[in-house]
Amino acid sequence: MTTRVILDCDPGHDDALAILLAARRLDLRAITTVAGNQTLARTTLNARRMCTVAGITDVPVAAGAYRPLAQDPLHAEEIHGVSGLDGPDFPPPTVDVDPRTAFQLASDVLREPTTIIATGPLTNVAAMLESPHNIERIVIMGGSTGHGNMAPLAEFNILADPEAADLVFRSGLPITMCGLDVTHQALATPQILRRITEIGTPLAQICHDLLTYFTDTYRVHFGFEAPPVHDPVAVAAVIDPTLISARPLNVEIELTGTHTRGATVVDLDRVTGRKPNALVATGLDVDRFWDLMIGVIR
Ligand code: RIB
Ligand code: CA
Repeated sequence: MTTRVILDCDPGHDDALAILLAARRLDLRAITTVAGNQTLARTTLNARRMCTVAGITDVPVAAGAYRPLAQDPLHAEEIHGVSGLDGPDFPPPTVDVDPRTAFQLASDVLREPTTIIATGPLTNVAAMLESPHNIERIVIMGGSTGHGNMAPLAEFNILADPEAADLVFRSGLPITMCGLDVTHQALATPQILRRITEIGTPLAQICHDLLTYFTDTYRVHFGFEAPPVHDPVAVAAVIDPTLISARPLNVEIELTGTHTRGATVVDLDRVTGRKPNALVATGLDVDRFWDLMIGVIR
């Protein structure tokens, strides 16, 4: 019995892999898009592109928020390119955008208990909290117990909409946070890219081209030898919870810090006495993660 999920994302190279993994291994009932790595128009087109090349034709794709709750949009063009999915040559998408908004589509799906996986800024997820009764769990790629990536102490998805993240972490719903602590372990090394190329299909080639582009930008901007594929880790954590190790911890979102806005303040040593409100992932079974990811590309 696979888990019924909504995937909210901002494709985005790693979101594109998350879409593939969720569609192949979960009961994916909706893909909702949000402004993040690129504008909403571009992230929505990119979701349609990835669904088209992966043959995901039975999952509705609906567009959500075009801007965060309380600040100007933050994009990551330097990492994902002008299109938000630079690298491969995508054919024109044959998967349409659903006429419903992300909120309407999510409300329809949430007539039954569903898990929400979020791999972009949490603006749409904050709106979905208006009908929380059937949200079983929220699993996010976001945050970090320490260093950030878009700011010294803030990770992109949280920094892009801290107010939305604060609403989610205060919701009282079961949350699993897959932050940089685990996603920086999921590195697309040259060995991984070789395993993907050897599959030899058009989809494998597209995934290879996505990861080659991602490798270049991550090397230039972050000095990484190999890029971390953040978002599929959150999906993998739903497919097989034994792939991650996680601790129940208190997580607060910094909203007002001059240099720390967007930080996920994780009480690792439980010094605050605040109640744990999230399962914070700290460990990843890297080999089994890549076996799963490469398995669905094959
Ligand atoms: O910080 C990494 C996260 O920001 C990933 O979800 C990536 O796709 C970007 O959205
Ligand atoms: Ca993302």
